[in-house]
Amino acid sequence: MAEIFVDTAKIEDIQEAASWGILDGVTTNPSLMFKAGTANRKEQTLKIVEIVQGSVSAEVISTDAAGMVEEAREILSWSEHVYVKIPTIPEGLKAMREISQWPNGRINATLIFSANQAFLAAKAGASYASIFIGRLDDAGLDGMQVVRETRQVFDNYGMDCKVLAASIRHTAHVTESLLAGADILTMPFAVLKKMIYSPFTDAGLQKFLDDWKKIAKAP
Ligand code: E4P
Repeated sequence: MAEIFVDTAKIEDIQEAASWGILDGVTTNPSLMFKAGTANRKEQTLKIVEIVQGSVSAEVISTDAAGMVEEAREILSWSEHVYVKIPTIPEGLKAMREISQWPNGRINATLIFSANQAFLAAKAGASYASIFIGRLDDAGLDGMQVVRETRQVFDNYGMDCKVLAASIRHTAHVTESLLAGADILTMPFAVLKKMIYSPFTDAGLQKFLDDWKKIAKAP
């Protein structure tokens, strides 16, 4: 079963999504912390963990392997639900290789824009490979193709790394990611709300209720 994450650090949105009973996790990054108006990464991450009791990703700020490893040690100590987000750059691969040896080495390899990067992240021991679909599309490339290719590569070699469809911008990205076999989809809360909405459902429900009122009034 594919997992659904929301891509936000906003507590109210996470609470609302969690109340629907279909939320598996949350992804954050420094920009999302900024949007949520907090610089306290630990406090915010733990508030989120409290709500979802599932996978919550928090990102490192360092760009050198030693710094990433040091930050990861701290971030992963916060909770068994926390995954550390490491950028998929050469220093990031070095850090992933080391962190993945730890018993709690849960890694979300982030900023992935090609199946090759996803392959290297998986080889370095990442648990998730986050493919930034929307940003690829924005650049005139085909983000979904990278999801499809990564799925195929991981399946070809039986790689134990989940395909995480990230940077989702609209509901068509959701459907296509599901069809492409993504393991996890992370999306803004606005997109999650659109997934459940259909004017036909609302109109159909209204008609049922109106007809029921008519028959209920009949002698
Ligand atoms: C992934 O985990 C990232 O937080 C996110 O999906 C980035 O998406 P954006 O392109 O909307 O910033």
